[in-house]
This record gives sequence, structure tokens and C-alpha cells, in this order.
Amino acid sequence: MTKATARAYPNMALVKYWGKRDPELMLPLTGSLSMTLDRFATTTSVTRDPDLGGDAFQLNGEPVTGDALRRVTRFLDLVRERSGIREPALVRSRNDGPTAAGLASSASGFAALALAASKAYGLSLDPRDLSRLARRGSGSATRSIVPGMAVWHAGEDDESSFAEPVGAPEIRMIVVVVDAARKEISSREAMRRTALTSPYHRAWAESTEQSLAAMLEACRDEDFTRMGRIAETNALRMHAAILACDPPIRYLEPKSLEVFDAIRALREQGVEVYGTADAGANVVAIARPEDARRVAEALADHGTVTEVGPGPGAELVDEAEADL
Ligand code: PMV
Repeated sequence: MTKATARAYPNMALVKYWGKRDPELMLPLTGSLSMTLDRFATTTSVTRDPDLGGDAFQLNGEPVTGDALRRVTRFLDLVRERSGIREPALVRSRNDGPTAAGLASSASGFAALALAASKAYGLSLDPRDLSRLARRGSGSATRSIVPGMAVWHAGEDDESSFAEPVGAPEIRMIVVVVDAARKEISSREAMRRTALTSPYHRAWAESTEQSLAAMLEACRDEDFTRMGRIAETNALRMHAAILACDPPIRYLEPKSLEVFDAIRALREQGVEVYGTADAGANVVAIARPEDARRVAEALADHGTVTEVGPGPGAELVDEAEADL
């Protein structure tokens, strides 16, 4: 096959990945856990073409060059190395979500690219190997290969660092976009600065290992309360470590903190809901399915809300229905 099309969804971490032990192999400092979402998919087709002068990349119908293209080429090089086929490729990608939805499009992007590229270059990878391959594109993409709740084992080497499914109670997430426009410092740069300058870097790594172990127990026990508390604490600890960089980095805005306050107020009214936030200003509330609508209504004053549930892992799709 010289062409393949795949779809993957972003994920939201309940125990965050923040820091690399090996930037070349993309081995993380600690393990992490996330839910793959059922909205904001990326669909990507990869077409091998020996007549192209080099790889070409189109996103939402527009040609992309520069760093983003180089990142795609570096990733395709890994696939080419494994397959022994040297041909360049045309990569066409479409993001369903508004680009600034506050959800990591690099996770869905590299998960979809890993599956489409591996097929187009004739590799047949099982989910574990696909997850290891996606990891090389973007850390969080490791988990977007997996449907629903996924644990990414930090591992010791390329072989042992992959994500797999975890049994957990069904939850909903309410994404609150408080600031769609803000230009952020990339997670890559911020992770590097945290490791180099934040005095809380080591404490972050140690506490995250404990949080992940406790989270896996909570998932197994179907203990929503414990899952929510661990997730909120872990997210705020990540932001604390980031705030302590030199020069400082602050992703959370006053509006973000207002959402965390609104979440606490809901808890005080008896609705069990917890908050988390990635490397950006937007906040995601974590709720039981039966409370999701009420939470979404209560948070609608603070930004644009979208309710999301557990979504599928990366999957091949028919080119004809992909509308690239
Ligand atoms: O791999 P990246 O650059 O998408 O890193 C993402 C890091 C966080 O989203 C902040 C946390 C996580 O575990 O997804």
C-alpha cells in the first residue's frame, strides 16, 4: 500500500507528563495517565510519492513549511528507517476542533500520523509498537493511540515506554476555553526550562510517581472522588513547578483561576467535580456522567464549554469519508 488514512483524538491527562528523561528517544521523567477524548479529532492521510522532491505537509488544506514540516519529516524518517523505503510522502491533515480549542493537537496529530505513515510504508505495528512510535513525535501522542483511559509507562528504554488501556469508571470532561487566542511558550521549551531552572523539578517527579500509583489504585477501585482529587492536585503541582522557572512561565490566567474557584464552589454545593489544566490557560472540569450537564451549565459563564467523553484509539479510516 502506498497510501493510508487514519484518525486519532486528543487526550487529557489526569496525571501529567511534564519532563523528559531522554529528549531524543522521548522517554518521560515519569509515567502518566489520561483519557482519550471523543471530540476534536485529527484525520491524516500519508501518500508515498517517489516524484516529490521531499516531504510535503498540508494542514486544513493549507501548505505548511518551516519547523512544523521539519517535525513531520523527522518523524517520517523514523518510519522510513524501519521500512527500508526511502520515498518522500505527501501528508494531508485536518483538525476537527477549533485549532485553539485548548486541547493538545500534537497528541491527536502524531497518533494519526503514526498509524497512517506506518501503514503507507508497509509496516504492521501492534498497538504497543504504534504507541512507542507515536511517542517519538510528541510525548502525549503515546496515549492517543489507546481508547479511553490510558497509562503511559515511563519505561527504561525505547522498548518499555508505551501506553496501554486501564480499566476505570466512566467520567466526563467539561472543557472550558477561557482564552483561545493566547500565544503560549511551547511545552517542549517549558519542560526544558522547568528541568533546568525550577527548584521544584525533582519534587514534581517524585510526587507524580506517587500520584500515578495512587491514581491506578483509584481507577481499579472505581473511586471517582480519589481520582478527581489526585488529578486536581497533580495539575496544580505541575503549574507550581512551571511558575517557579527562571524566567518564570505562567500558563494559568486570572480567568483560569476563576474556573478553579467555580469548581470548588460547585463541590461546596454538593456536586463532585474537579479541575485540571494543561500547558495553557484553559481549564477542564472532571465530573461523573450524571453531573456533566449541570457542571457545563455552571461553568458556561466563564468561557466556551464543551462536554467530552471517552473516545476511540487511533484507527484507519476510508479516504473517501475523510474529506481532506
Ligand atoms: O507532548 P506534549 O508536548 O503534547 O506535552 C504535553 C504535556 C501536557 O499536556 C501539559 C501534559 C500531558 O500529560 O498531556
